[in-house]
Amino acid sequence: MRVLVIGSGAREHALCARLRASPSVEAVLCAPGSSGIARDAVVHPVATHDLDGIVSLATRERVDLVVVGPEGPLVMGIADRLATAGVACFGPGAGAARLEGSKSFSKDFMARHAIPTAAYASFTDYDAAAAYVRSVGHRVVVKADGLAAGKGVVVCDTPQEALDALDRVLRQHAFGDAGATVVVEERIDGQEISFHVIADGERYVVLGAAQDHKRLRDGDNGPNTGGMGAFSPVPVCTPRLVARICAEVVEPTLRGIAREGHPFRGVLFVGLMIDDAGTPKVLEYNVRFGDPECAVLLARLDGDLAPLLDAAARSALSAETVRVRDDVAIAVVIAAEGYPDAPREGVAIRGIELAEAVPGARVYHAGTSRRDGGWVTAGGRVLLVTATAPSLVEAAAIAYQAADRIELPGAQLRRDIGWRALAPSASR
Ligand code: AMP
Ligand code: GLY
Repeated sequence: MRVLVIGSGAREHALCARLRASPSVEAVLCAPGSSGIARDAVVHPVATHDLDGIVSLATRERVDLVVVGPEGPLVMGIADRLATAGVACFGPGAGAARLEGSKSFSKDFMARHAIPTAAYASFTDYDAAAAYVRSVGHRVVVKADGLAAGKGVVVCDTPQEALDALDRVLRQHAFGDAGATVVVEERIDGQEISFHVIADGERYVVLGAAQDHKRLRDGDNGPNTGGMGAFSPVPVCTPRLVARICAEVVEPTLRGIAREGHPFRGVLFVGLMIDDAGTPKVLEYNVRFGDPECAVLLARLDGDLAPLLDAAARSALSAETVRVRDDVAIAVVIAAEGYPDAPREGVAIRGIELAEAVPGARVYHAGTSRRDGGWVTAGGRVLLVTATAPSLVEAAAIAYQAADRIELPGAQLRRDIGWRALAPSASR
């Protein structure tokens, strides 16, 4: 099989590395990829939003399967374009990708299908939204409707913070068209998990849950980021909870989106809040793997990845195709100085090979490029250091030993990835 991966981050590097190791894969291509990914795939300089370029690359290179990493091209309709060209695509069409591409669509969808989520209302008008914020008796989260590069969500402590956020989005148009509509949602508390399933339009298999760490600094402090590290499995996600999530969230979602005419083929990543009573509520849908979640989920997945993704893309999944190991996987992000606001680019990185020499560790490139024979930063999240071991304590020890071998001036990394699972009351 010849496989083309779309994207350029650590998620895509992990996918390429795993596909390259697949006995059924003859060639792995990646667009646009990166110098780091070039170690595991043949990279082609086609941007993720260049749908014509992706379709012509896939046909020219006789690609059997396209695996789409980020949400952008899915929301733009790359899967539909590839289907027209007769190329199988792992990733949903634009109709189903609205689950991620529009917050108001996804909230209305959940309401239509009785899927548990926080109470909400949608607005296009500042005064109406402000009146709502003043009238509700709970804390809120303000969300720009469209894709806003992970910056469109403000979790508010006070009504004033919510009014400021509404002002930025609806009056100052901070997110352009992506903020023409806002969702104002009830803020809910609990433990957040990233639940992933692979679906083929009808059937699905559970990949499992990971826990991301969205805040920049230890103890869940500092600004929100794309994710500073993850681990899997998540103790709170017991087999009983998995069964409940499947029955109350995954199945009605897949059935609902198919009934609305958009069968979902690809990976559905449901962001869930689990409250103290163990009740899951949907925070958001994503129509692609999480990053850094992808690396830890793949690390625990047994067997050949390519036939699994291919079967999902071709509506031919069978339950036997997934086995998840009991091992614990962890991933620690090394971010550039200035991330997330203004990451410093072009800063020299040393020690990647030394880090990879730590037994059990593996380094994926998220935002690097080559300069004068060495590596330099070329993005906010720079590297993802991963490890797998029988326990979280051991996996974390390996990952941090490897991470400490990387020299990057101004580097930011969290020292507490997995803290919720390591804390004495591990279920909270
Ligand atoms: P979203 O892009 O909708 O997942 O929002 C980004 C992040 O904001 C989530 O990962 C949560 O950490 C947080 N968040 C979103 N919605 C809520 C909510 N209703 N209550 C509390 N936190 C939320
Ligand atoms: N790590 C969260 C995400 O990929 O959306």
